[in-house]
Amino acid sequence: MTGTALITGGSGLLGVNWALTIRDDFQVTLAIHQREIAVQGVSTMSIDLESGNDLKRALSELQPHLVVHAAGLTSVESCEANPELAYRINVQLAANVASACAAFGLPLVHISTDHLFSGASALVDENAPIEPRNAYARSKAEAEARVFDAHPRALVIRTNFFGWGPGYRRSFSDLIIDSLRQGETLTLFEDVFFTPIVAAELIRAAHQLQAINVAGIVNVCGDERVSKLEFGMRLASIFGLDDSLIRPGSVANQPGLVQRPHDMSLSNKKASALLGRELGGLDKQLAVLLQQQQLGFANEVLSI
Ligand SMILES: NC(=O)c1ccc[n+]([C@@H]2O[C@H](COP(=O)([O-])OP(=O)(O)OC[C@H]3O[C@@H](n4cnc5c(N)ncnc54)[C@H](OP(=O)(O)O)[C@@H]3O)[C@@H](O)[C@H]2O)c1
Repeated sequence: MTGTALITGGSGLLGVNWALTIRDDFQVTLAIHQREIAVQGVSTMSIDLESGNDLKRALSELQPHLVVHAAGLTSVESCEANPELAYRINVQLAANVASACAAFGLPLVHISTDHLFSGASALVDENAPIEPRNAYARSKAEAEARVFDAHPRALVIRTNFFGWGPGYRRSFSDLIIDSLRQGETLTLFEDVFFTPIVAAELIRAAHQLQAINVAGIVNVCGDERVSKLEFGMRLASIFGLDDSLIRPGSVANQPGLVQRPHDMSLSNKKASALLGRELGGLDKQLAVLLQQQQLGFANEVLSI
């Protein structure tokens, strides 16, 4: 074992992927909120992230070598409907976790998003000006600032990931695979772009960056900018699924949606230079997803 790791948002899509990915190397504790879960080889602990005292109790007890903050209110619609709640969960909890980690001298990896920009530019780097378009983006932008105020050596990762999700939390790739396996048609936007990375590669890169003491903002995403439609077509191809069930759609025809950037693509040049390697194009990311299915990872996550 390399050490102990505490991951907030323990029942979330990223939290469970993180735990399963590193459990052979780390003693992992997932910080749990409302949903109780059980993951083989991983501990869980109920921690009230709103309470500085409870956080300190947990850190004293666990003495982790690393904290990953992956808790959040991630539904863009829920954040827009309740911006105060978005602020409380996305900003306040991040600030609390960062303060507690700083007080204990612990390294912190804070998970941010690719959703912070207007979408007017493609493949934006870490220095691009933030222009939040909705309450989710505003809360995540404010969270980054509050994390650095409390913990200047924090590693803040901007990303957009996919991976195998539990039954109660299906990911973007799960939704596509589930639909195609059931023979259902689905519509994917041809005019919304991103640079997706598979969760396992995001997690591997985060640990490598942390191991070389990188602080500050780093985009950790795939090498390739693709539309949601292209993502679905390439996923179908690699998984041998029927791509004729996928229909092109346009976000322009969805005026009811919460306003969001249509281009969320990030440049991963900084991460690539720091790591001394490429993070990989979409086919590489999808090949990891397929391999995880073959190794039983997908079924284990599904059963959580
Ligand atoms: N999914 C993506 O593609 C994506 C893209 C870019 C960035 N991100 C960022 O990545 C991080 C993880 O995302 P995710 O998709 O894994 O999230 P998720 O599946 O929606 O899970 C959110 C987690 O946060 C916990 N949580 C919510 N309110 C809480 C509270 N008041 N106190 C403590 N824990 C609380 C939830 O626990 P309960 O269910 O028990 O409340 C759950 O474990 C987030 O910071 C998100 O902004 C995600």
